[in-house]
Amino acid sequence: MRMIDKLFSYFFEAPSRKVATKFGANRVVSISSGVNHLSLPTHLRELLHREIDTGTYLSSYTSPLGHDLVRSCIAVYENRLANMEVFNLENIAITLGSTEGIFLAFLFLVTQKEKTSVLTLGPQYPLIFDLLERAGFRNIQECINDSGNRFLPSSEEVVSQIATLNPDVLFISVPNNPTGEQYSIEDFTRIVDAAINNRCYIVIDQISTDLSFHPRQEFINYIEPLAKMEIDRIIRIDSLSKKRGFSGARFGYVMSSDELTSFIREYNYRHILCPVMFGIDMVSVDIFYRSYLWLKSKYSDWDNEKSYNILIDSIEDMYGSKFNCVADCFTESANISSYQTELNSNVKILFDNEQFFRSKIGSEVAVTDWKAGFNFMAKLPYGSFDQYQFAIDLFETAGLRSFPEACFVLNEGKNIHSDQAGIWTRISVAEPSTIFEDAISRLDIFLRKTRI
Ligand SMILES: Cc1ncc(COP(=O)(O)O)c(C=O)c1O
Repeated sequence: MRMIDKLFSYFFEAPSRKVATKFGANRVVSISSGVNHLSLPTHLRELLHREIDTGTYLSSYTSPLGHDLVRSCIAVYENRLANMEVFNLENIAITLGSTEGIFLAFLFLVTQKEKTSVLTLGPQYPLIFDLLERAGFRNIQECINDSGNRFLPSSEEVVSQIATLNPDVLFISVPNNPTGEQYSIEDFTRIVDAAINNRCYIVIDQISTDLSFHPRQEFINYIEPLAKMEIDRIIRIDSLSKKRGFSGARFGYVMSSDELTSFIREYNYRHILCPVMFGIDMVSVDIFYRSYLWLKSKYSDWDNEKSYNILIDSIEDMYGSKFNCVADCFTESANISSYQTELNSNVKILFDNEQFFRSKIGSEVAVTDWKAGFNFMAKLPYGSFDQYQFAIDLFETAGLRSFPEACFVLNEGKNIHSDQAGIWTRISVAEPSTIFEDAISRLDIFLRKTRI
């Protein structure tokens, strides 16, 4: 049994009751949840309320690829990022979170393209390995940097591993979860070039990517180098789960060739699956605002009204008709600026939490080079290198759940950076500061005691 599964059952099954009794159920929290617990911008919440009040979508089903309005907004946004017309409606499929999208992408590659080998870059969100195995990949290799505080392999290392292992598929998530590291555009371009030369497919998971809403948050537009590849060799996966803390609604999507979307259409028919019909306006507006803000950041001669109209026209062209239901929400420029301000405050909370962590736990504690997303890793001083024991000890002594390094790798016995000096652990910063600070203060007391 993998460490992640053992810890899950320990945290959420019988022993957790004892810990809940000791600390009080709502004081047992996770320092490694990986979830975004910050609030949705007000305007997006209002749209959700309106959707419930009017029952616009809730009482309906949609076609197997999902609602056309949201797919049109996605296609327009992605084309703007690519700075060319790459996607149309037939290239976008709405999925149950990104998890279903990732699984169907893997299944497509195995069953339709007869691909069997994959190279994953950096540590991973643990389900990735399960999804690869369930889809039928027989040769799964991971490439992890083994030096000091870096986990994401350098582009040189990736290029050399591609040449040596000759994988059919590269899997990459940007920014990396759990480390928050991400490639510069130059390094990423080098990896894409190697993939093109070796005829690899790239599956790229961008669920924690967001435009930059704060000066310290780095948005890298990976789509430009990817746009050099043939569309059927790139599978891009995204979701609203993390960037907008909307995981429960399971709003994910896949962008790729129409061959893959046809496969998803067939799969959904066969399994009687209907994509989500909740949050359509909210997600469409969120994506529309991002398109608007992206264009505004790119062009110094930006004209609000003219550019707004160009975007609306592109969405209507894609959608195939006028859309009245959300048009009024698109028009309010005050909504866009409050959306921007509220997302900026959310990102500020992430950085304030990181600062609190550093000041409390000590600046000598090593951390990963966190560039974006909602997590980084920190090497927490502990008198043993038994990662499982560390997580159990922290849970029972301080009421804190944590996921150490071994949870994020395929080969738990190898590629390990943790040692006698400390256990690398995911720290999730998308928490309201009061909860985060209380948890980190308890972690600090725990670490002090174990150091004595
Ligand atoms: C990198 C990454 N990919 C995919 C997922 C799955 O997200 P969802 O299915 O909710 O979109 C997660 C969830 O934590 C993740 O961190």
